[in-house]
Amino acid sequence: MDLRALLREIPDVPKPGILFFDITPLLGDGVAFRKAIDTFAERFADKGATKVVCAEARGFIFGAALAYKLGIGFVPVRKPGKLPWKTASVTYDLEYGTDTLCMHEDALLHGEKVLVIDDVLATGGTLTGMLQLMKNFEAEIVGIGILVELCFLNGRDKLNGLPLDSIIQIS
Ligand code: PRP
Ligand code: MG
Repeated sequence: MDLRALLREIPDVPKPGILFFDITPLLGDGVAFRKAIDTFAERFADKGATKVVCAEARGFIFGAALAYKLGIGFVPVRKPGKLPWKTASVTYDLEYGTDTLCMHEDALLHGEKVLVIDDVLATGGTLTGMLQLMKNFEAEIVGIGILVELCFLNGRDKLNGLPLDSIIQIS
């Protein structure tokens, strides 16, 4: 099944000169969506992970389904003001400005093995922020899974050699 063919390319979104890769056609195809989750599951099933950590909003779609498939826990990383308990937070740089992500401070156990999942890797800002946030926890990142890697933006270079597994690469 060609998952790449189910990405819709939309020019000039969100601003002129940017080509947006829309995952909703893939999500809307039950066979393709299952294939994406099964592919993540095959790649990460033997890592011994006990939690999937994901940033809202689109990361939740894949992370929650993968956690269900692997029978492990799900940890939401959210924008400020959304989580009701005590949080750890990180503010990270975007191309223009900054963003903040939060996670409950008791979301991970010491030494717990985790998978970090997101739909798209573009500049790597979100993922770098997530990894910075995870430093508050003595957790071990045993896998990073991305559905669509925009390779030409070189986001992978920001990961200091941490292994990243993408299902679709756009060059
Ligand atoms: C999108 C996408 C990734 C991120 C990738 O999230 O879901 O999380 O951008 O871009 P980056 O590598 O440059 O950080 P965004 O916060 O834009 O929207 P969402 O809430 O729909 O997930
Ligand atoms: Mg996102």
